[in-house]
Amino acid sequence: MSLLTIDKLTSSVGAQVTGLDSETLGSSDGFGAAVLDALEDHGVLVFPGLHLEPQAQVTFCRRLGQIDHSSDGHHPVAGIYPVTLDTSKNSSAAYLRATFDWHIDGCTPTGDEYPQKATVLSARQVAERGGETQFASAYGAYDALSDDEKARLASLRVVHSLEASQRRVTPDPTPEQVARWRARPTHEHPLVWTHRSGRKSLVLGASADYVVGMDLEEGRALLADLLDRATEADNVYSHNWSVGDTVIWDNRGVLHRATPYDPGSSREMLRTTILGDEPIQ
Ligand code: OGA
Ligand code: MN
Repeated sequence: MSLLTIDKLTSSVGAQVTGLDSETLGSSDGFGAAVLDALEDHGVLVFPGLHLEPQAQVTFCRRLGQIDHSSDGHHPVAGIYPVTLDTSKNSSAAYLRATFDWHIDGCTPTGDEYPQKATVLSARQVAERGGETQFASAYGAYDALSDDEKARLASLRVVHSLEASQRRVTPDPTPEQVARWRARPTHEHPLVWTHRSGRKSLVLGASADYVVGMDLEEGRALLADLLDRATEADNVYSHNWSVGDTVIWDNRGVLHRATPYDPGSSREMLRTTILGDEPIQ
């Protein structure tokens, strides 16, 4: 018998997992492997109304891999990072405005860390309006290309930067802001990621700045067109949060973004990130 009851949410991405409570999450053997398999198949798993306590979330995430502790210190529980625009709950909240654009986490690390394997968010407080989280399959984006396009894109490389993603939400930065963004190294990645599994995905999103060796504007137009097609409404699952929902996404195979919400909103998501063990190659 399967450990999980899974129902697809759209034809391309996302599935709802039911029949669990937060105790089973922490206790059942083989559960971590079942979740990782389902994540590979569906890209996003929604656990409605789980009401996971922060420590239980971290315990659950340990079953999925190694936890990212690089952002510890913003929440009393190690492994938990509050995603909120409320600066009283997170002093680096300003950076989070970049979550309003489609992106893949971890394309511009401070060092040479691999992109995170998976990210877990649980809703503590939700926005009155907006503040949904949307997902689109980056595997689906590749699979939908024509054979010609697949051949043409196969060798392209793209430079990603923190500056590119921050400029979209802060188009008129101060010199100090620019200097802080530029302190983060840029990273060159292939446009097409061939995963260990053999599947291929497109590496797109707000951090993608330009295509190496291509006219700047032409390259940016290509990236914008690919992103538009990847995130067409028919390819998107949009999660409308209720307090207590938990959502996990495969950060390597899906693009995600938050839909706009009032910057004064008390929306708060508790996040745990599972480290990646695979380079973009
Ligand atoms: C993130 C993120 C989106 C949201 O935590 O990486 O992009 O809806 N969050 O808060
Ligand atoms: Mn993100």
